[in-house]
Amino acid sequence: MNWPYPRIVAHRGGGKLAPENTLAAIDVGAHYGHTMIEFDVKLSKDGQIFLLHDDTLERTSNGWGVAGALAWDDLLKVDAGGWYGGAFKGEKLPLLSEVAARCRQHQMMANIEIKPTTGTGPETGRVVALAARELWQGMTAPLLSSFEIDALKAAQAAVPELPRGLLLDEWRDDWRDLTDGLACVSIHLNHRLLDKSRVSELKAAGLRILVYTVNDPQRAATLLGWGVDCICTDRIDEIGPDFSA
Ligand code: G3P
Ligand code: MG
Repeated sequence: MNWPYPRIVAHRGGGKLAPENTLAAIDVGAHYGHTMIEFDVKLSKDGQIFLLHDDTLERTSNGWGVAGALAWDDLLKVDAGGWYGGAFKGEKLPLLSEVAARCRQHQMMANIEIKPTTGTGPETGRVVALAARELWQGMTAPLLSSFEIDALKAAQAAVPELPRGLLLDEWRDDWRDLTDGLACVSIHLNHRLLDKSRVSELKAAGLRILVYTVNDPQRAATLLGWGVDCICTDRIDEIGPDFSA
């Protein structure tokens, strides 16, 4: 595939400079000039696609319990900004549709990480892929990724033309079988798993490589020097859109 994505990706919208996975975070990412963001999505009980990293609400909102067990009406009442700081109080959990509109406004590309609530992998993968195709019409195709192979399989079956990346937090010797089976364009790795020879091996297999979460500029430069394609970072100020090795 023609790889349209930039070298630097703002993790969870605005890295550590805003409450993660919110519209405010996307605005902060845009403010620093970023042209691509990563964010995490899951389903509400009634099938709405929204942004949240954890299964539960406690860490990044004033809500509590398993988010995916609640209907959207209840999730709408949650404050997803106040935990980070007073300036962000009242920030809502965003719907994927709102995020697509904000990406369109800022002309930003997206890496949609499918992060299903436990037990909902296939349904989440399917619904997210279908919605992403609709919502990103006329924009660069969003890159779908997931740690959950079942979610990626369902996304592949539903919308084969959307690019997919396999996320791994631990090395797997069967990476080639997995990425072949899912027809992935990329592999998204914890950067600690990589050395120069692994980068070469993955590149030789025709995969693009995204690494997370790289917050040290020196490490980012080393990884880019080895041939890594994308750095996903929380340090969106220090590792800016023009960062190069
Ligand atoms: O997609 C890259 C990265 O976001 C994966 O880890 O836990 O930050 O979603 P996590
Ligand atoms: Mg993520």
